[in-house]
Amino acid sequence: MRLEGKVAIITGGASGIGHATVQKFISEGAKVVVADIDLERAEKVVAEVEADGHPGQAVAAQVDVSVYDQVEAVVRRAVEAFGKLDVIFNNAGIAGGKPLLDHDPAVDYQPMIRVDQDGVYYGILAAGRQFRDQGTGGVIISTSSIYGEQAAELAFTYSAAKAAVISFTRSAAYELAEYGIRAVAITPGRVGTPIINQFSEELRTTFASEQLRNKLTEPHEIADVVAFLASDEANVINGTVVHVDDGYSV
Ligand code: NAI
Repeated sequence: MRLEGKVAIITGGASGIGHATVQKFISEGAKVVVADIDLERAEKVVAEVEADGHPGQAVAAQVDVSVYDQVEAVVRRAVEAFGKLDVIFNNAGIAGGKPLLDHDPAVDYQPMIRVDQDGVYYGILAAGRQFRDQGTGGVIISTSSIYGEQAAELAFTYSAAKAAVISFTRSAAYELAEYGIRAVAITPGRVGTPIINQFSEELRTTFASEQLRNKLTEPHEIADVVAFLASDEANVINGTVVHVDDGYSV
């Protein structure tokens, strides 16, 4: 129960990595706000937590992370429901892309930057202010990607946003250390979630072969690392990137 007594917001908590992290955090004793643009699925995750024998340990909140006021409202919701905030996992994101020269900036650049980049900035800002005002410190974990550190086909905008997540993490750790706030970014490789599962069997086999164990990562394998990073056992991991890509980047 390494997260006993901790209160966490998990954005994108209704699916994939976020969903697995909700389950892991609950099993480690945390109280969780399942924050997602898809309220219906977030409520299903909360119902599942209750059915698993943890009544009152999770609440659902609808949020579009690309709108600052909504992110701030989720932080308020956590405090209303559970009295404080200890951890934010800025994980909501969208993927996809076109060749650069086919871009319509209004379609292929701005919307993704708003979610994958601005959304993380807003999470850091809103949670950071809450941690400072509480005077308790806190942990900010944000989901980047292997593409945050390297170029890839059809990933011009996604790579830019995910690189910004790494930069935000370094700067947030640097600037917020005086409030006892820690920040860490994770870079998943190929994780078996709806983002990947939408592709053909053949392409998924290729994705798996890019990782050293020749398999797609399971969402719960990422969640295990996030729970560790959120815990006090990871107090010296700060302002850095934790590669959770099964050797993709070696
Ligand atoms: P997913 O599609 O299963 O989950 C993403 C969740 O984010 C969904 O529940 C969706 O409703 C929510 N969401 C989307 N836009 C939102 C918004 N504007 N506001 C609030 N919630 C929003 O995807 P997955 O794979 O679990 O992705 C989670 C994170 O991991 C993303 O940031 C993604 O870029 C990143 N990632 C995923 C990899 C993979 O192989 N699956 C690899 C590297 C990074």
